[in-house]
Amino acid sequence: MRDSRRKTGRPIAPATLSARAAAHVALKVELNGEVAAHFYGHSVALGKFSAAATHRIKELRAGLPLRDLASRRRTTDQEIARLVRRLATHGLLEFRLGRSSRGAEQVIIEPQVPDYWPEMPQLAATDTLALSRFAYMRRRGSDLVLESPRSSALFRICDAELAAMLGMLVTPQPLKKLQQLRNPAGIELFALLVDCQILFKVDAVHDGGLRSSEGNDSLVLWDFHDLLFHARSTEGRHANPLGGVYPYATSIAPLPAVRPRWAGIKIDLGKLPITDTDAVRSIAKILGERHSVRTFDDRTPITLMELSRFLNSTARVRSEWTAAFAADGGGGPTMTYSARPYPSGGSSYPLELYLSVDKCEGLDRGFYFYDAGEHALVSIDVRATELEALLKSAAFAMGESGVPQILITIAARFGRVSWKYSSIAYSLILKDVGALTQTFYLMATAMGLGGCAIGSINIDLFARMTGIDFYVEGPVGQFAIGRASPPETSR
Ligand SMILES: Cc1cc2nc3c(=O)[nH]c(=O)nc-3n(C[C@H](O)[C@H](O)[C@H](O)COP(=O)(O)O)c2cc1C
Repeated sequence: MRDSRRKTGRPIAPATLSARAAAHVALKVELNGEVAAHFYGHSVALGKFSAAATHRIKELRAGLPLRDLASRRRTTDQEIARLVRRLATHGLLEFRLGRSSRGAEQVIIEPQVPDYWPEMPQLAATDTLALSRFAYMRRRGSDLVLESPRSSALFRICDAELAAMLGMLVTPQPLKKLQQLRNPAGIELFALLVDCQILFKVDAVHDGGLRSSEGNDSLVLWDFHDLLFHARSTEGRHANPLGGVYPYATSIAPLPAVRPRWAGIKIDLGKLPITDTDAVRSIAKILGERHSVRTFDDRTPITLMELSRFLNSTARVRSEWTAAFAADGGGGPTMTYSARPYPSGGSSYPLELYLSVDKCEGLDRGFYFYDAGEHALVSIDVRATELEALLKSAAFAMGESGVPQILITIAARFGRVSWKYSSIAYSLILKDVGALTQTFYLMATAMGLGGCAIGSINIDLFARMTGIDFYVEGPVGQFAIGRASPPETSR
């Protein structure tokens, strides 16, 4: 693969892959050799280094060729390699690919997950490559970027010829043919893109339609926009700003809390008499009392009996059946269906509950799956650090220092919905999450418990904890629950 030659017979120099500190990162060296990375008001300590090594840190601005780091001849090289790896772990590096280490930039690789490291899988001359149907190129500011929700990195394409060449890969191209093209980023670019699942090797025997050849059935079931929405609207698989950062606070006025009135004849509903039955009065009372609770009374935590009651009323499977017609009246192939306490688009019920338990009387701290069919909890072995990270991220999202007694992660079995629905599958799932969330809120209120929905979830962390690929079954919502702190301390 590396010994590519043009028709002239002259060997083509391999492209150089170098690592450099990302543009938003400043590396500061203390007198005692401690190095720290500063970015967006944060700082990360990277360890202590020798004077010789810290002297070379400025090279990380221009870019250090990875093959030099790999050689590790001198102690300083080893130290710099250690520093580079630490920066990579925190997602503070970017990688440059080009024919020379100092020349014009061809491709810049921006990691999207914290521990991304560029790998170049071996490509054979007989390989045929094609663009993933999840890959796309777009303008970002004045850059052209190539990305994919499956990829751990984004590729900034700095050369228009290169962009045109990548465009050719909408149809499968033999590597042999690609090697003949003028390619300023080298054949190495293809290997890096294969590693990031932006390109894939086409299976000549089985691949009729490119959709089916990209891996398992779970991927086949995803629409392009749905997978992109899932990966970009959650945490863990991209490096974009996330959460309440008020990006337009200085440039655009906020919309008012209540929509300005339409001009027109007004019918005042407040003047109508209220004639309630007991059932209406009690549900109206619960709706009136419902509010988010973010602090919990750890002296008297929620009990296993309360948790069982809560899950039984909100999420337990009430019945199961097989039918050729969906509960929403539409015809279709024979499927199994279930009935549960909350509504679900097409009666699909793709949502599953995973419980991170910090404190619950009668139940050990740990990670559990709620088997809604059996109304049982099944414990799942996870690393203590990952359980802690999940609970802490919920506390962070609620702006609290203490973790919730129980954190319910609502995961979706995406294929359950996308097997049937095109274009609307992911949005249906999110609507189901809304319906389930309100069901949780109302039951928690009725039981005198406290709860709070949580908007941001790390889908990569969940994938690591469960060992399930993020596109097979993954988090789409969270709900913290427990015994509320006495009123004066809850918000
Ligand atoms: C989809 C959704 C996401 C939410 N995410 C968070 C969150 O991440 N952190 C938080 O403290 N509250 C979160 N909340 C709770 C809202 O802040 C709360 O519902 C809102 O402030 C109204 O207050 P109330 O629920 O007490 O009536 C979320 C609510 C919903 C419905």
